[in-house]
Amino acid sequence: MADNKAEFQAGGVSHNFNIKDGAIGPSVVDISSLYKNSGMFTYDPGFTSTASCESKITYIDGDQGTLLYRGFPIEQLADHGDFLETCYLLLYGELPNKVEKDDFVNRVTYHTMIHEQMSRFFSGFRRDAHPMAIMVGTVGALSAFYHDSTDIADPHQRMIASLRMIAKMPTIAAMAYKYHIGQPFVYPRNDLDYASNFLHMCFAVPCEEYKVNPVLARAMDRIFILHADHEQNASTSTVRLAGSSGANPFACIAAGIACLWGPAHGGANEAALNMLSEIGSVDRIPEYIARAKDKNDPFRLMGFGHRVYKNYDPRARIMQKTTHEVLGELGIKDDPLLDVAMELEKIARSDEYFVEKKLYPNIDFYSGITLRALGFPTNMFTVLFALARTVGWIAQWKEMVEDPSQRIGRPRQLYTGYPERDYTPIDQRR
Ligand code: SDX
Repeated sequence: MADNKAEFQAGGVSHNFNIKDGAIGPSVVDISSLYKNSGMFTYDPGFTSTASCESKITYIDGDQGTLLYRGFPIEQLADHGDFLETCYLLLYGELPNKVEKDDFVNRVTYHTMIHEQMSRFFSGFRRDAHPMAIMVGTVGALSAFYHDSTDIADPHQRMIASLRMIAKMPTIAAMAYKYHIGQPFVYPRNDLDYASNFLHMCFAVPCEEYKVNPVLARAMDRIFILHADHEQNASTSTVRLAGSSGANPFACIAAGIACLWGPAHGGANEAALNMLSEIGSVDRIPEYIARAKDKNDPFRLMGFGHRVYKNYDPRARIMQKTTHEVLGELGIKDDPLLDVAMELEKIARSDEYFVEKKLYPNIDFYSGITLRALGFPTNMFTVLFALARTVGWIAQWKEMVEDPSQRIGRPRQLYTGYPERDYTPIDQRR
């Protein structure tokens, strides 16, 4: 870029700002001095043009449909890596060597149990409580049990808290599921890998041996990789903002889980499967496409569209491949919902409304079909998203806490309410 300056004229006054270039991707205009020098704020609801931080963790090119974790394409990590290796990469910036990996896997493995008293926590919930409600509550309560890793100024405590959350999320998620279906909790097993251990905790019962299918475990592990991190999405921004006040890491992750739950975000995988079930058959697709295009109808195609991707979400491609792998392994010849999903994608992608608005399937479009085939009920889908995204939230939280320029996040506003006015006694009111 020729001159790294941006000029802004307002009320006949000119303001100059530095332009900062990233390693790749869009540059930014540093407007941090704007209010001090002009008395004005920028205005960007939804943050469509706002970079909230500098980060080295994940890069997305929405036009190309590219996703890099620490520079490595998601396709390569999904094909050749595994989830715990990806966790190490996101947390520390490099792929681990053999010694580093074995040590990391070992440390995570020996943190998978939760404090025994926490199991009593679950019985406070109604059996029909949504597993995400149980997850938000239980993760938020971790700081009541692990207060020896809540001092965020201590690097050792930050590392222990990070390991604890990566290790305990599958246990908590499985317990939320078991509690919801009225089955006894299954303890983690140190002889199983991360994904196999999770499937075992979800689907084993005390009455018989449960053998984890290695093909399904590999698919589960890959699904975790796809969901691990995604730049400054809504829930990650929530975690960063919560962390900027110095809140303990468990509370910050609970805030991220709460934000992820929304159907516009991580809750879309549950909403997408419910939508496919509601459509039910290929011949009803036109009716729903018409509703999605109707400005007066709040209905949207769940699992479609994205704030950043204006091309195919690379994760959706890998997820679709995984769907076929899992259905094939399970001998499911034709899944009517998959037929609906594929036909819906085909019709939507040739429809001018979706083409013009650059709406493509996102990660949530096919994930529900895969997760249902793996045996999970729909209301567990976002729990699995939260399980996998925990490492991304933690890596981003760690990066923020370790950034020497970090300060509390405190946006301003455009105020359009009443100017100052005097109190009116009740007998003088309208
Ligand atoms: C995730 O940010 C991330 O990275 C998130 C995530 C991650 O890994 O963390 O990728 C995970 O949350 C994926 C997205 C899951 N959500 C859904 O699938 C819900 C359905 N999608 C939409 O709600 C929407 O596309 C969003 C929320 C994903 C994006 O919303 P934006 O960027 O605010 O886009 P928008 O609502 O401004 O839509 C732009 C236009 C609008 O039409 P106009 O007002 O311009 O005429 O596209 C239309 C929208 O009406 N549109 C859709 C649509 N999505 C957008 N129309 C029909 N169906 C849709 N799904």
